[in-house]
Amino acid sequence: MILIKKLPNMSARDKRFVLRPFEQGDEIALVRHINSSRIAERVSNIPHPYTEKHAQDWLLRLAEERDKFHYARRMDFAITVSDEVVGSIAFINIDGHKAQISYWLGEEFQGRGIMPEVLRLVAEFGFTVCGFKRIWGYTWETNPASQRVLEKAGFTREGVHRKEWYKNGAYHDSVMYAIVQ
Ligand SMILES: CC(C)(COP(=O)(O)OP(=O)(O)OC[C@H]1O[C@@H](n2cnc3c(N)ncnc32)[C@H](O)[C@@H]1OP(=O)(O)O)[C@@H](O)C(=O)NCCC(=O)NCCS
Repeated sequence: MILIKKLPNMSARDKRFVLRPFEQGDEIALVRHINSSRIAERVSNIPHPYTEKHAQDWLLRLAEERDKFHYARRMDFAITVSDEVVGSIAFINIDGHKAQISYWLGEEFQGRGIMPEVLRLVAEFGFTVCGFKRIWGYTWETNPASQRVLEKAGFTREGVHRKEWYKNGAYHDSVMYAIVQ
């Protein structure tokens, strides 16, 4: 894997969104768009309710991680519309030639085909700039919208991991998707 020292800005072909690194000052928009039980239920580590303190701690953690490790362990892009954070996509668990992808989008912006385009852009960046050979993602079996996003972005369904996640007192099966180069 190639060490990335600075994340680039990337934008949609029609400029309807821009991907950029998170910045101090994104807290309020982050809370506005992530504070949804429907998002927290589907993404493993998002608390609900999500407070400004959560956002402050999160941005601090990302800044510390960046200062210490650059982007060797994770790379988080803010998805912005009119320079307001409305979602996020990240490479997490970066491990040599492979990385996991994780994402969410504020409810107001869902259903417009934004995330498949975001995912295609970020996967392309992962292959061409970071040198990844495999990018993979999990979704809960009960999250067909996310499975559709992965399929629309060219990922292949590889199988079901039974009882992969424990959340809210129950075990959940997850579906593994990946794209390779
Ligand atoms: C999942 C998510 C990222 C989708 O992003 P998006 O930009 O809204 O995606 P799209 O606009 O392409 O719509 C999703 C696709 O799923 C389909 N879909 C939505 N709900 C569905 C359902 N219940 N059953 C089947 N398909 C469904 C839509 O029809 C669309 O497919 P189409 O374009 O072929 O019609 C977004 O809804 C989200 O952030 N959800 C909460 C967090 C989350 O689930 N993150 C992923 C965790 S793995």
